[in-house]
Amino acid sequence: MSAARGSALEQRRLGQTDMVASVLGFGGSEIGYQGVSGRTVGRLLGGALDAGLNVIDTAECYDDSEILIGKAIGSRRREFYLFTKCGHAGGWARADWRRAPLLASVERSLRRLATDYVDLIQLHSCSLETLRKGEVIQALEQARERGLARYIGYSGDGAAARYAVECGRFDTLQTSVSIADQEAIEGTLPLAIAGQMGVIAKRPLANVAWRYEKKPSEPYYQTYWSRLKTLDYPFLKAASETAAGTALRFTLSVPGVHTAIVGTTRPERWQENAALLQAGGLSPREFEQIRARWREVAERSWDGQV
Ligand SMILES: NC(=O)c1ccc[n+]([C@@H]2O[C@H](COP(=O)([O-])OP(=O)(O)OC[C@H]3O[C@@H](n4cnc5c(N)ncnc54)[C@H](OP(=O)(O)O)[C@@H]3O)[C@@H](O)[C@H]2O)c1
Repeated sequence: MSAARGSALEQRRLGQTDMVASVLGFGGSEIGYQGVSGRTVGRLLGGALDAGLNVIDTAECYDDSEILIGKAIGSRRREFYLFTKCGHAGGWARADWRRAPLLASVERSLRRLATDYVDLIQLHSCSLETLRKGEVIQALEQARERGLARYIGYSGDGAAARYAVECGRFDTLQTSVSIADQEAIEGTLPLAIAGQMGVIAKRPLANVAWRYEKKPSEPYYQTYWSRLKTLDYPFLKAASETAAGTALRFTLSVPGVHTAIVGTTRPERWQENAALLQAGGLSPREFEQIRARWREVAERSWDGQV
């Protein structure tokens, strides 16, 4: 994998894997769920690859996200690390955690992504109970043995994420980390650091939920919107780029985080966010102010959001 071209964007090694990831990755849920056109996805991903992106995350159930990615940049497959997930091949509401359907889901993902391997296959937020039974982990290990995936990971939060780290069988953890979701910072990431796991921050901008004046109708945004109202961070009142830049730099300043996969539907967004990161990490004072505010007002129920 070549280093970033035409960009000084920082890269970090993902735990003990051989992957050296751009700190700004791409999250593939929005292009799928919002039905972005193939042409737009081509511009978005082609432009981001040219500017230094090398991490693309998607999932089996983000509508046509895998197909869009495969069509847009399948021909440039060697230029990026490709991550997908399994467990809901029939849709989010129809999880299936048996070994054979999981392996069939990975094979379907490869066809849709126009590739013969993914760099990382992740369990898509199964419960702690399902993880403990072990069949799901064996399925991923089998996918790795068969060469369908180079590494295996767990994507999820809370007690299940902690189990995934502590069981020692996964290479990476994808978990929610943002200004509105800080449970993992004390609960999970110290364990992930000790286990030298690769850590992928999902929902790293808290869905920019502060942009809504009134409570958004989309349930996915509501928890972060309500938390941010209570947190009332002064920096969110600044110009929108300053607010987004501070929020993203916070996530990437959290010890243990290697890459932040921001979702977007807009071709210019990845480069805009990469430019915001040129300011580097937050100062220890800025970082501590955000942490202190969370400790001051976060309720016990404010757990990691899937
Ligand atoms: N259970 C799981 O495994 C799980 C769950 C959730 C998410 N994920 C992964 O995490 C990825 C990211 O999560 P997400 O997309 O929900 O949350 P996110 O990255 O925190 O937020 C994405 C939103 O931020 C907006 N945005 C991005 N940059 C911005 C900027 N500079 N200024 C203003 N708005 C900006 C985007 O809008 P525009 O379209 O306008 O850019 C988009 O609506 C997903 O795509 C997926 O890959 C995994």
